[in-house]
Parts: sequence; structure tokens; C-alpha cells
Amino acid sequence: MTTNALDNLLSRITDLDLRRAVESEVNILRDTKDFGLVFERHLPEEVRLLSHPITRGVKVQERKSASSETWTVHSVKAGIATLVDDDDGGDAAIERPIEDLVVVRGFGEPIYPGLKSVGKVERGGNKPYHTVINGENFYALETLLYAYEGQVDCIYIDPPYNSGARDWKYNNDYVDGEDTYRHSKWLSFMEKRLKLAQRLMNPEGSVLIVTIDEKEYLRLGLLLEQVFRGCDIQMVSSVINPSGSSRQGRFARTDEYLFFVFIGSANITPWTTDMLRDQSESARKKVRWSSLIRNGEGSRRTRIPSLFYPIFIGKETGDFHSVGEPLARDALADSVVCPPETLAMLPIDGSGQELMWRLHPPTLRDYLSKGYAKFGKRDNKTGFRAPQYLQRGTIKKVESGEIKTLGRDEEDAMVIEFEEGAKTYSPMTVWNRVSHSAGDHGSAMLKALIPGRKFPFPKSLYAVEDTLRFFVGDKRDALILDFFGGSGTTTHAVARLNRQDGGRRRSILVTNNEVSDDEAKALRKAGHYPGQLDWETLGIFEHITKPRVTAAVTGRTPDGHAVAGSYKFTDMSPMAEGFEENIEFFELTYLDHNSVARGKAFEAVAPLLWMKFGALGPIITKVKKPFAAPAGSTYAVLFDINRWPEFVEALRDREEVRYACIVTDSLAQFQQVVAEMPHTMGVSMLYEDYLRNFEINTGAGR
Ligand SMILES: C[S@@+](CC[C@H](N)C(=O)[O-])C[C@H]1O[C@@H](n2cnc3c(N)ncnc32)[C@H](O)[C@@H]1O
Repeated sequence: MTTNALDNLLSRITDLDLRRAVESEVNILRDTKDFGLVFERHLPEEVRLLSHPITRGVKVQERKSASSETWTVHSVKAGIATLVDDDDGGDAAIERPIEDLVVVRGFGEPIYPGLKSVGKVERGGNKPYHTVINGENFYALETLLYAYEGQVDCIYIDPPYNSGARDWKYNNDYVDGEDTYRHSKWLSFMEKRLKLAQRLMNPEGSVLIVTIDEKEYLRLGLLLEQVFRGCDIQMVSSVINPSGSSRQGRFARTDEYLFFVFIGSANITPWTTDMLRDQSESARKKVRWSSLIRNGEGSRRTRIPSLFYPIFIGKETGDFHSVGEPLARDALADSVVCPPETLAMLPIDGSGQELMWRLHPPTLRDYLSKGYAKFGKRDNKTGFRAPQYLQRGTIKKVESGEIKTLGRDEEDAMVIEFEEGAKTYSPMTVWNRVSHSAGDHGSAMLKALIPGRKFPFPKSLYAVEDTLRFFVGDKRDALILDFFGGSGTTTHAVARLNRQDGGRRRSILVTNNEVSDDEAKALRKAGHYPGQLDWETLGIFEHITKPRVTAAVTGRTPDGHAVAGSYKFTDMSPMAEGFEENIEFFELTYLDHNSVARGKAFEAVAPLLWMKFGALGPIITKVKKPFAAPAGSTYAVLFDINRWPEFVEALRDREEVRYACIVTDSLAQFQQVVAEMPHTMGVSMLYEDYLRNFEINTGAGR
């Protein structure tokens, strides 16, 4: 019963005393009852900070063990930490070498994040960089708020599905089907991250996409309604396993779900399919290839003799060889001398009538080299292949981008299936696309890019690409975030979208460096532990995400071989071509509050400033007094505010520098300098005490 219905009923009680008594009881109930999705929110979540230094006061656990037993560091001397157990009143102290310990932070305790570059791929010229971050996503999201609050156009996430098969970790431990709190843990985990995601999204127009399956879709739907109050939410059912995964005595599962949360003015841009039916070729406006032979009125050879010439094709292979020269006016057709092993095709019809081609030899040669002319199937009797070409109007549309091409075929002819935009469809809520099969275009794609490396359940590249296209297809500079990045499919899909329309979209991917439950067991058995090289190199970020994204962009596998195969369905280019994109990889690091002296943390937060100002050009990594404005940079940092006149002067002719960051603790001084800066320049203030800018995990502002 809704609260309104209750109020209605209460108002109908005519006995005033009775009404007051019942109202008071109802109010007590109202205070204790939670309306909506009920789950245990207070399960503490804590995370191991593998790279955090072991210093006095931090909470630690044993690095080599999966146990959650926690101590506080009382002191550190010569690499040995003295630990006390807070639960024992701090009396009993034990000693451990610091390399055997790892810092843990509960949610709510302040953390100071930094980003450390761990590699890059640069093939995109002056395009902005995609960023791929290795880190716990809760902290990564909080960190990203500094750079991107309210700016993200699209978030796509594929979180752990909580299958009960130890497929995700809560508090450093895999959650299994026996855990009675597993739904609460999952909801609590998701709610915290979704609330941060919400703050990153552009309130004017953005979309959140979450994939999920049968295990949690009902709870996720309710959670999304609660977090994103007032937003339109739709759920799509998508076939991702066409052969079905059998369930004893139940329907075989062939699909999973996608939730779409529409924020502000976000809308779908229709595409060339409704995602459910295979739109018949006839429904699409097919691009017409015209026959090169001209027949009908006025097509006789004698009318324009220069259009009567041979085209040579391989006698055995049927492959195009060359375009010959026009025959002399009265030369016989069989006087043509063929290059070795070729046949001459002339414009002669079935009744032996000598006609003409529609293009002169130089134009045909030019068209063939550009893929605007091609040959049809081989006629078994004559061995000929009918030549075809694109008319001038069609070529114009191809060259202006109005008609999209899907690459070249094996004979180098343009592949154009239909006129893009000629007919578009509103997508349905049930998707059935062979291209979305996770096995065929997720796992198999990884096999081609990073042979021999395994990752459970990557999405089909084309599924992510199609999903994103509905929202960022027409936003060529969109900012797209995936904070459950896994194998990096989202970054790859964004690179594909950019290639299809010359876009400068940017993706930010976050993933941790977990190993699977089985791998963890085997590694522990072999004496390894988290943080150790042997362990970390097998983690998802190091072993899968970074090499996969690198292979996709460079077109080379980790062993240096050209990636085999071609993309399918749309833009069928060879995978070995890679993409003209820039990517920088980062590790989320944690600074120690005590050891970060005033002004000493700049290096660690420098990439965040660079991201804030567009992730373009070089990162200003070092404090350089009075200011830093390196060549190629799109932003500049003033470290010594007293020298602001020089700064303003130096930026006067630097049009490419669009943002300035001023390091000062004085708001008044900051405002004074802002007034002197060109109005077109974005200006931000950075406190000298970096900790004031970057303290996260305190719940402040939420
Ligand atoms: C289901 S997978 C995503 C797969 C991805 N869509 C693809 O196509 O490869 C979820 C990923 O999120 C990562 N993950 C889970 N919890 C995380 C957390 N708290 N922080 C960062 N990454 C996390 C896991 O390592 C896993 O790779």
C-alpha cells in the first residue's frame, strides 16, 4: 500500500481520538520501515592499497594471506614494523618486515590518490588520449571527479554478475553462492559506485548503460530507479549466445540484459537496423553499381570508337590484368593482342553486336585504382566477368562521406552495402544480431589480438560498438567511461567508431589487476602473493587489458606479429592496420598523508590536471618555477603566483594554450590573476597543499 493510500484511509476515520492514535502508530511504522529496495548497506567495504607505503598509524594486513585480520602500525624501524591489534586494546605487539604487509583502508577513511604513467601508444597525432587506469574503481571514480565532474557523455559498464561462482571480490574475498549476504554485498558495492558515476555524468544529456544477466537484473533495475530518480530507464534483452546455454529442466539462456538510464536530454540516434530483424536488403537503399557496357539507342561502336577497347583478365584466375587501348576504327575485334595468360573482354553483346563501354580507358583505370569499378561473377562459358562502376553522383557522395563505405574487398573494390542514412530505424527492445555473439566476437577477438591469453566473458566488440553508437554516434568528441573495463572492449569500440567517421571521441577505462580465483589459489600454493611481480603480471590489467588495447591500436600482437583477420559487419578493414589513436596507461597510486610534504605531490597528481584540461599533448609532470608551458601543451601551470605578469606575457601568443592552472592558497590572489588572463582561457586554482585538492574517500560532498 502506498503512503498516499494510507493517508486517504486515515482521513476517513471520523473518530478523532481513534484517528490520532492510529496516525501515531503509522508514523512510528513509517520511521522504521524502508520503502523501496531493502538491503544491508552497512557491510563495511575495505580495500588493500598494494602500493601504499607502510608508515606509523596505517592499518595493515598480511600481504601473503587472504585473511582480513588487521593491525595498526605502531612504529617502523629498519624495515620492521611493530603492529598492535586495536581489538586487544593495543597491548600485544608483534613485529613484521614491511614487505610482508599491505595497507588496508576502510571506506570513509581519507585517501590521497595519484596517477603514475605505465606506458603509452601514440599513433593518433594531435588527437586527445584515451586513458586506461589500473585501480580500484571506487577510488578511481572519486579521483576522476576532480577532472570530469558533470562532463561524461556516456558510461558503459559490464559489472560482475554475482553469479555465485566466485566471480568478484568484496573485501578482498571472492563472493560465492553460499554467502547469505551476497545480494546485499553486491547492491552495496554497486550503489556506492553508481552514486559516484552519477556525479560524473553530464546532467544536460548523457546515458548510463549497464549490462547484467538473470542473477541480478531485478535488483539492479530497482537500484537504478532509486539512484537515478526521475530518469527514464529502459531494459533491452540482447541475444549474446545464439546457441543457448542449457539449464536442466529450464529454458536455455541465450540472452542478457542492458539497462539504459537516460539523463537530461539524452536520446537515441536511429541506425540502419532495428536490432531485431535482419533488415532485408530491399528495405535499404542499395547503392547501384552500373554496368560498364552501354547498350540501347546510339551505343554502336561506330558512334564513339574510342570507347571500344579491351579489358584483360586472367584466363585461369579471372583476376583483372589491365585496361587496353581503343581499337583503330576499322580494326577487327579478334585482332586484339592479349598479354600472356589473359582474355580480352570487349563491349560486344550476345548477338555479336559491337557496342561501347561507358568510360574511357584512363577514367576506368582511375576508377579501378580507387575501388569505384569492379568485376562481377565469372561466366562459366565465356570466362568473362561483367565490369561495373559507380556513377559520378554516387562517387561524390562516397567522397563527401554521405555514403559510408565498409572498406575494400579482396580485389580492392569499395564495399558499399547501402546508403547510410537512406533509411534508419528506431531500435527495438529486443536485439538479435549475430555480431553480438560474445563467443564469436568477444573471446575469438581476444584470441586474435593476444593469442594464448584467457579472459572470462569479454563482450563482443561489435555489441559494445553498436550500443555506444546509439548515443555517441553523432557526438564526435564524446567522453566515454567504463569503470569495469575488463579486457578493454570499450576502448577498442570507441577507436572503431572514431575510425568510421574521423571522430575524436575519448574513452576512460578503469579496471583492477585481479587474478582469477583459481589462479590466485595456484599462485599462493607456489608461494606468490599480491604485489609480487609474478602475481601482478598475471593480473587482468597487466596480462589482458593493456596488451589487448595495445594490440588493437598498433595492429600487432604482444609477440610482434601482425594481428590476423579483418573486422566484420561494419568497416571491414584488416585488423593489422590498427587505429590512429593515442592511449596512455596509468596506475592509481596512493600517497601517504604524513609523508606528502607541502608542494611535493605534484608529480603524482600531474596526469589528473592533464586529463582535466583535455588529455591533449604532453603532461606537465614537474614543478617548474615560475611556470611551466612546454611546447605542444594545451595548458600551462603557474607555480609562483608572484611572477604572474611573466606568465600572462608568455601565454599572449600561445593560442593553443587554452587552460591555465594557478597554484596558490590565496583566493584573492587567484582572482586577481584571473582578471588579467584572456577571457577565452579556462583558469583553475590548485591549492599548494595538494592534499586539500585530492583528499578522497571521506564521503564529503555526497
Ligand atoms: C565482467 S568484466 C568486464 C568485461 C568487459 N566488458 C570486456 O568486454 O572485457 C568486469 C571487470 O571488472 C573488474 N572489476 C571488478 N571489480 C572491480 C573494482 N572494484 N575495481 C576495478 N575493477 C573491477 C574485473 O577485474 C573484471 O575484469
